Amino acid sequence: MQGISIRGVSQAFGAAGDARRVVALEDATLDIPAGELVCLIGPSGCGKSSLLDIIAGLAKPVAGSVTIDGEPVRGPLPKRVGFVFQENALFPWLSVYDNIVAGLTFQGVPKDERRGRADEALAAVGLEAFRNHYPRQLSGGMKQRAQLARALSLQTEILLMDEPFAALDEQTRLVLGEDLSVQLAKTRKTIVFVTHSLVEAVFLADRIAVFTARPGRIKTILTVDEPHPRAPGFMTSAKLTGLRNALYELLHDEVRRAMETGAGV
Ligand SMILES: Nc1ncnc2c1ncn2[C@@H]1O[C@H](COP(=O)(O)OP(=O)(O)O)[C@@H](O)[C@H]1O
Ligand SMILES: [Mg+2]
Repeated sequence: MQGISIRGVSQAFGAAGDARRVVALEDATLDIPAGELVCLIGPSGCGKSSLLDIIAGLAKPVAGSVTIDGEPVRGPLPKRVGFVFQENALFPWLSVYDNIVAGLTFQGVPKDERRGRADEALAAVGLEAFRNHYPRQLSGGMKQRAQLARALSLQTEILLMDEPFAALDEQTRLVLGEDLSVQLAKTRKTIVFVTHSLVEAVFLADRIAVFTARPGRIKTILTVDEPHPRAPGFMTSAKLTGLRNALYELLHDEVRRAMETGAGV
């Protein structure tokens, strides 16, 4: 299969038999065809970030396996898999433009290609006018745009995004979501996107994997049958509201259970 195939993946931290051992994720199975955007949503501590680490080859699962385009993931694949995190991961001493070029340099992109790719990525996120700004001169939304530009410039077929917009105000987050949907329609990237926003999940995803409280299992997969790019009007549609409500019903008991058992925060 072209895309990401997750088969029976479990993750635990701490030695087997140790009372402090935490089973983070249990028996996750999910196929993500190339070009699809899948959102992972579930209570805090249910193993979403752990699963991204495993897909990225940054951690080994205690059971199960992940393949990308049919090949088992055995370690990081920087040419194929890009990341965007919630935290600002920009180098503070470099301008926005130089941050993007630094990423391209690390990836081994030839020097004469770097400028064109950085310019294109800046245009894609609407940051051309801020290319010479330093991260401290940017708002939170612009920093996330810059991170997104850096990830896009690497032209990986897969993007893993771990609550990338979580620190932003709702309006900024929704506009960035629209931009991402436009990018997806243009480039057909495969995206795994962790969010705790129900609306963001429905607005962005082709499918939403809903996790149980820890140990996280995939409880249900909801399909959002709506083409990309998603129009702003989709946000206020009855379809989105209906799916958001269905998601709320699915998540509510899990979040309460996570709080009551202390699995989450
Ligand atoms: N490196 C680690 N060592 C020990 N425990 C960890 C580690 N990484 C995650 N955990 C624990 O595993 C559980 C799942 O974490 P995580 O994947 O970050 O969940 P989520 O992203 O869904 O909030 C949490 O209880 C967390 O404390
Ligand atoms: Mg997380």
